[in-house]
Amino acid sequence: MTTQITITGEEDKLFACRELEKGNLLFFPTVPFSFPQEEIAFLLEQKQGSSRSRKNVAYKPGLDRITNCETKDLLVQERLKGVLRAYSTRVTSFLTELLSPYAASWRVDYTSFRPFQEKGRKLRVRARNDLLHFDAFPTRPLHGDRILRFFTNINPIEARHWITSDTFSPVAKRYAGNDLPLPKRVDYSWKGKLSRGCLQAVRSLGVKVPMRSPYDHFMLRFHNFLKENQSFQEETPKQHWHFPPGSCWAVFTDQVSHAALSGQYALEQTFLVPVRSLLFPENSPLHVLERLAGGNLVRHS
Ligand SMILES: [Fe+2]
Repeated sequence: MTTQITITGEEDKLFACRELEKGNLLFFPTVPFSFPQEEIAFLLEQKQGSSRSRKNVAYKPGLDRITNCETKDLLVQERLKGVLRAYSTRVTSFLTELLSPYAASWRVDYTSFRPFQEKGRKLRVRARNDLLHFDAFPTRPLHGDRILRFFTNINPIEARHWITSDTFSPVAKRYAGNDLPLPKRVDYSWKGKLSRGCLQAVRSLGVKVPMRSPYDHFMLRFHNFLKENQSFQEETPKQHWHFPPGSCWAVFTDQVSHAALSGQYALEQTFLVPVRSLLFPENSPLHVLERLAGGNLVRHS
């Protein structure tokens, strides 16, 4: 089960990484870097639109672009991009110190602004945030890289309510090879090479086909399987977390099963951490699954 570890700033250099890799959740009672009140006020003014199924606003640091922004007002768009860019920069700089073993090799992924009320949000089952799951990306294969997420509840009055349950290893051992087929191993035969070559040729023509490894295929199937599995959702032991206004938390969301039950207005920054940077790579979902499958699930160069 997951434990909440409150970070005070007095811990040794590897403490935070160690706790995250055990499947624990780092908790910060207040925002641990500057976050001007005027920026928070601007975010809280943003309206969520008529459809509750709309996507969160995403900021892509590598491209300095925002997507899913509802307003057509270019000035508001620019301001929103500037606020998300500043948040991304501050989180990255703070975590570069706190999680220094990861910082040299992680990829700073998207920043998201989540203006929707999670309670009662009407989404298709596989997109629902209020069902327990491990994160997996459908369009961007990770080949074993870890999903590390840092959240901030900017709602001035309402806590963000999460549940978590067992970590990846026991859940994968329960279902993989039983209710869900074991992941297929990397196919090194000429057929496997040919099929990868064909996919690469299609991609070189500009067709967006994700180059998924067996690891990515399994993680996606597992994400969907758990959300659709009523007995897992109802019977698995749960821990409840109420993240108060102004607090932050960080967690490996591919290792800790989680769901957001309620809360509105949060920010989130994702980092993709290579397995080679981990202190305990043997605990990573990739290595857990490779032990279960008895072989490689990503191609090792
Ligand atoms: Fe998630």
